[in-house]
Amino acid sequence: MKDVLILSIETSCDETACAITRNGREVLSDTVFSQIDLHRRYGGVVPEIASRNHLEKISTVVDEALEEAGVNLEDLDAIAVTNGPGLVGALLVGVSYAKGLAYALKKPLVPVHHIEGHIAANYLTDPGLEPPFLCLVVSGGHSHLIHVQDHTTFVVLGRTRDDAVGEAYDKVARTLGLPYPGGPELDMLAKKGDRKKVHFTRTWLEKGSLDFSFSGIKSGVLNHLNSLAMKGEAFHAADVAAGFQEAVVEVLVTKTLEAAKRTGMDTVALAGGVAANSRLREALQEACNEQGLILKIPDFRYCTDNAAMIGCAGYYRYLAGERAGLDLNAIPNLQIDRK
Ligand code: KG4
Ligand code: ZN
Repeated sequence: MKDVLILSIETSCDETACAITRNGREVLSDTVFSQIDLHRRYGGVVPEIASRNHLEKISTVVDEALEEAGVNLEDLDAIAVTNGPGLVGALLVGVSYAKGLAYALKKPLVPVHHIEGHIAANYLTDPGLEPPFLCLVVSGGHSHLIHVQDHTTFVVLGRTRDDAVGEAYDKVARTLGLPYPGGPELDMLAKKGDRKKVHFTRTWLEKGSLDFSFSGIKSGVLNHLNSLAMKGEAFHAADVAAGFQEAVVEVLVTKTLEAAKRTGMDTVALAGGVAANSRLREALQEACNEQGLILKIPDFRYCTDNAAMIGCAGYYRYLAGERAGLDLNAIPNLQIDRK
């Protein structure tokens, strides 16, 4: 079979990214311009600033990806682009650029769901991994338990009803005075703390539910800090971080194992920015070992937003014959189980 070369673009949040992949899983180049430094002083992503910077950086990022891969535009078989979910103005930059390229080059345009990309990060890390498997997707915007039935069929078994895990991490980190993005900072701080010193209530929701809720624990952390402040006592940030992390991880691990049991899956995969969390990786690995399940975790560089994962997911959509017209739009709340 002829090689399939895909140029992929990702601009759904605060990373401007472009990659060139061959046959889905071989990454020829993977360029990411992170805007984190621009948003840090506001304590979170400012959508308007994100869109403007995508616009400023996109051409350079695409040129760099092509150059690094040693690929000419004419060699490409398709252009893949994240068209949702995400920030609408940010998504529009990538979608418009991809449409322009596809039109000028007369190449197929393939739309990609951002979470499908996060799941595909596992294919980049493990060349032998094939569906079906169960995937826990945890990022700044999403927390989903997904039954990956084949490369393009996804059944959502559970999702967050309020905050995403990464969002809860970032908010709690901010409360503890850590810089944005707080997830990695909190992860590091928690290593110095005692997981059992401060206990936060776990939110399990109705019996049997595989959905999540993380807004309660956020208030739990605030209440803990406030009650200490009222008594004139100082809080121990590392213990609070470790206690918060333990509560979140326990719920994630328990529901993931339950979902694996229900679907009969013997392979579990982790995806999304929070897949970089050291305690989640460790606890999920221990639990999977106990249950005789195989755990797949993407390389750190493919956990947070990048375009290589979009190229990989786009490859499978390309093979499935999926094509978008020039009327392709950015859809901020695009659902993954649309079929
Ligand atoms: O996947 P991602 O880059 O963007 C979204 O699609 O949302 O995820 C970013 C999120 C942020 O909330 C960040 O704080 C979190 O992933 N994150 C972590 C860690 N590394 C990144 N959260 C906890 N522990 C980490 N080590
Ligand atoms: Zn993401």
